[in-house]
Amino acid sequence: MHRYNEPSRGRVTDEMYYSTEKNDHGLPYNPYKSIVVPRPIGWITTLDRHGNVNLAPFSQFNNLGYDPPYVMFSASHKVGAVTRKDTVSNIIETGEFVCNMATYDLRDAVARSAEISDPDVNELEALGLTPAEPQFVKPPRVAESPVHLECKFYTTLILPGYAATNTTHVVVGQVVGVHIDDGAFTPDGKIDVARLRPLARMGYQDYASIDEVFEIAPQGKNAAELIAGMGGEAKGKRTE
Ligand SMILES: Cc1cc2nc3c(=O)[nH]c(=O)nc-3n(C[C@H](O)[C@H](O)[C@H](O)COP(=O)(O)O)c2cc1C
Repeated sequence: MHRYNEPSRGRVTDEMYYSTEKNDHGLPYNPYKSIVVPRPIGWITTLDRHGNVNLAPFSQFNNLGYDPPYVMFSASHKVGAVTRKDTVSNIIETGEFVCNMATYDLRDAVARSAEISDPDVNELEALGLTPAEPQFVKPPRVAESPVHLECKFYTTLILPGYAATNTTHVVVGQVVGVHIDDGAFTPDGKIDVARLRPLARMGYQDYASIDEVFEIAPQGKNAAELIAGMGGEAKGKRTE
């Protein structure tokens, strides 16, 4: 515990801090993964070069940009090895993946899909999930999931770890197609997030899901500009 003077409030308070290199937090559990929360989960289908299906969840996952949108996820190595996870190898080798929305209703299948690491096992079949036809890429969509992003591999970024076995691969893909279930909308045409309950990861064995949504409307003289940016209205690429 460290005591410090909090100048803005003029009071002495307590905090703990630690160095990530030493990892000397002294707590019973590492707190880090419950700090950047909640993390959306990309539930990612890929094919290996022989056409075998792979499905695995990645919570170091997010959207980048919107015209076109890109997504990124980051993967550690296979446990105790310097080998890339199958999802990363498949994407680098075949150039395509699908991000299926992980929801509260699918939470058990999402968690179980992480436990199967044998590249020869088709997680969709093993978990009783249904493959749905993609439109722009080859890996199947998970039919039980209400939203799918079809992606083409764009780049990887390799982040060095403190140990050789802790290298992180950040994979970026361009979203080329979006599928949304007809039943996933509110009557006024917005995605009904509170009803779909997207699943999110925190630290420890903890998860969360979104079941409440509220609006904060932009105000002031640049409100229209902010509303356009927040809405993410894209021009798309026109060929005519
Ligand atoms: C909800 C959830 C989120 C996960 N997020 C990540 C992640 O962000 N990065 C990672 O390397 N592993 C993550 N994992 C572990 C991988 O899903 C697991 O290692 C999986 O077996 C990888 O499969 P693959 O080798 O077929 O790619 C997560 C597991 C769960 C249950």
